[in-house]
Amino acid sequence: MNTSQIQAAWKSPSNIALVKYWGKKGFQLPANPSISFTLDKATTETKVLAQKTQGGGVSLELYFDGERNKAFEDKMLGFLRRAETGFEWLKEHHLIIQSSNTFPHSSGIASSASSFSALALCLCSIDQQLGLLSDKDFFEKASYWSRVGSGSACRSVYGGFNLWGQTDALIGTSDEYAVNIDDIVHPVFKNFKDTILIIEKGKKAVSSTTGHALLETHPFAEHRYRAGFKNTATLLEILESGDLDAFVQLVEAEALMLHALMMTSPTPFILMKPNTLAVIEKIQDFRNQTGLHLLFTLDAGANVHLLNPENEDNRVQEFIKSELVGYCQNALYLCNTVGKGPEKINT
Ligand code: DP6
Repeated sequence: MNTSQIQAAWKSPSNIALVKYWGKKGFQLPANPSISFTLDKATTETKVLAQKTQGGGVSLELYFDGERNKAFEDKMLGFLRRAETGFEWLKEHHLIIQSSNTFPHSSGIASSASSFSALALCLCSIDQQLGLLSDKDFFEKASYWSRVGSGSACRSVYGGFNLWGQTDALIGTSDEYAVNIDDIVHPVFKNFKDTILIIEKGKKAVSSTTGHALLETHPFAEHRYRAGFKNTATLLEILESGDLDAFVQLVEAEALMLHALMMTSPTPFILMKPNTLAVIEKIQDFRNQTGLHLLFTLDAGANVHLLNPENEDNRVQEFIKSELVGYCQNALYLCNTVGKGPEKINT
């Protein structure tokens, strides 16, 4: 192997949280546990070329869709300097990072979860090529460093359903990395659908990182953290039993609590738009009329994630086309299923 130049490439997906991570403790540790499933289509592809230098610390060039991106480079450099403690070789390497998203450009959505997990996976692959990381520890280390980059990213290094955050409700859980929980998940959830309805594209008014920080002085923070722990334990039971009605109730309540926290923070803000609420109302009405198990969840933004079991998908997709598409910017929505997780790309 030519050790003056080593490369690795990964394609890594985004994920959607069912119980939300909102509020941190210490450095990049979650104030409560969260559970998500990995998406199959919303992915980032990242290639890292590491060139040996004389030392003096890590340096980088970052290209996004083929163009050098200085703003993202600064954020990445901060992350890589921290990562030098876990990947000592970084101190004597210059990195050329090339990244692109498979989200359609017009959707205006970017994901720190897919981009940081793709990068952390590349760093781990290089570690492995240098003989510094065993197969056994690979994904745990990838999840740990994804989390340092962006909390939700640590849940993207595995497919299926994942839990991040220490909880007595499940042994083997940690605040430092996510664990896969597929072995307890009922078949009805295995091919769940997530249609992302693009209500508004573009940058959010308040970043997640700022939102998390507002929890530090939030009057309801302690209550929220207790609810996050309780909902994690309850969702584990629901995922095991396959109780769809309970799933609908809990996941929608989590989404609304997330946005209620934003609206009641010391500096209040609203990320939902009128069309977000219109779509939520339509989804709930359609569920009441049909008895189908479609539900919504929300990220820290205006877009609506419409979730449903696979066997109800034909009717739900018809409903989206006839009733919801008019609320989407440029009639755009993105269809995802529970995904199998990141893929290594041959370089
Ligand atoms: C609402 O992971 O984006 O999507 O750790 O500061 O990068 P940082 O925050 P981020 O926050 C995600 C918040 C959320 C809920 C979730 O994914 O659990």
